[in-house]
Amino acid sequence: MKQTAFSKLFSAFTSPSQIARTSMIQDTTILDLITKESNRQETTLNLIASENNCSIEVMRASASPLTNKYAEGYPGKRYYAGCEVIDEVEKIAIERCKKLFNAEHANVQPHAGSQANMAAYFAVLKPGDTILGMSLAEGGHLTHGHPVNFSGTVYNVVQYKVHPETHLLDFDEIEALTLAHKPKLIICGASAYSRTIDFERFAQIAKKVGALLMADIAHIAGLIAAGLHPSPFPHADIATSTTHKTLRGPRGAIIMCKKELAEKIDKAVMPGTQGGPFMNVIAAKAVAFHEALDPSFKEYQKQVIVNAQTLAQSLQKKGYDIVAGGTDNHLFIVDLRSKNVSGRAAEIALANVGITCSRSCIPFDTAKPWITSGVRFGTPSLSTRGMKEAEMKQVADLVDRAIMHREDADALAGISQEVKALCELFPIYK
Ligand SMILES: Cc1ncc(COP(=O)(O)O)c(C=O)c1O
Repeated sequence: MKQTAFSKLFSAFTSPSQIARTSMIQDTTILDLITKESNRQETTLNLIASENNCSIEVMRASASPLTNKYAEGYPGKRYYAGCEVIDEVEKIAIERCKKLFNAEHANVQPHAGSQANMAAYFAVLKPGDTILGMSLAEGGHLTHGHPVNFSGTVYNVVQYKVHPETHLLDFDEIEALTLAHKPKLIICGASAYSRTIDFERFAQIAKKVGALLMADIAHIAGLIAAGLHPSPFPHADIATSTTHKTLRGPRGAIIMCKKELAEKIDKAVMPGTQGGPFMNVIAAKAVAFHEALDPSFKEYQKQVIVNAQTLAQSLQKKGYDIVAGGTDNHLFIVDLRSKNVSGRAAEIALANVGITCSRSCIPFDTAKPWITSGVRFGTPSLSTRGMKEAEMKQVADLVDRAIMHREDADALAGISQEVKALCELFPIYK
């Protein structure tokens, strides 16, 4: 199909369900499932902190014929012919990424956040080197040194937690562990931490032992891009991020670093840990960066934070405990022990009424990771739908009623109808 015809065809679509309904996808088995999933997304309230709804433009770019192109290497230095156009796409993505994050160097090829972290470690560490990262149970990520992950088997891992009482990053502990174990790399950044991360403080501690500092900003990248959370630069040597969370781009990742590490990082991505880049996704990342550079993105991110704070405060008023006392960003963890319900039971109760979230350990959780004592709530998706403070109060009420009446089928059926009605007022793809 010629690209012009393709563009024309795509410009006629206004929603993913319309894309699915067209005869473009002849495979009815998959077509049905895409339609079902589109409908599920439209008719449920998504409180999963790591998810968002990217724009139609981002989806169009990632569904473009750029998926067909092999382009191992980097702009100007490819191992395949025919990369002239692709080179332009990647160069634009790199420049936009650098501008957005004030980064000296950017690699836009990592397929996902885990691959970005793997490449970053591969660039600066040898097997057996010591790394210091935040434990998964206290808010870190699997790739920050968990034993079931490559990071926990390849490297000698030391883990920090949070302060047992405040549930904030405990810089006294982080410094003591750093001085005692002299890690080669300190990893900061989290999957489930609701307070501001002090990158400067991390860098001061890293300097004491000559460690490198890596900031994994996967969750807060959108807030950083909007200037609503301190930037990891100039403090961190490396920053990795996914592009699909608060940043609201396609599923994928990026690595940014100081100039001195640029060559090592690029080599660690390709040929170190990846082959051909997903050029369609890189085009979609470029589109997302362009969107994030628009002033409207800052307004969106402001609303994400206000919404998270409103939701957390509304739940606190209903007697729910919030880990670390509240939130400065897009997410927070609800400690459900005072309500006598496990994270898993709450996640199921909420799913039954069409509210999706992820159960989560609370710091120093005594419940098993499969059960947990908490749930993690985030507002990127609901904010993208246009919801504001009034809706957050309504969502808090729906959440509370679904959890408290989780055994009452009639009550749950009524709440489901209210969830659907709210979703209808805020369609994802208008
Ligand atoms: C802090 C952090 N780093 C890395 C990742 C990994 O990203 P991916 O799922 O794209 O591999 C996540 C994903 O949730 C994350 O929260």
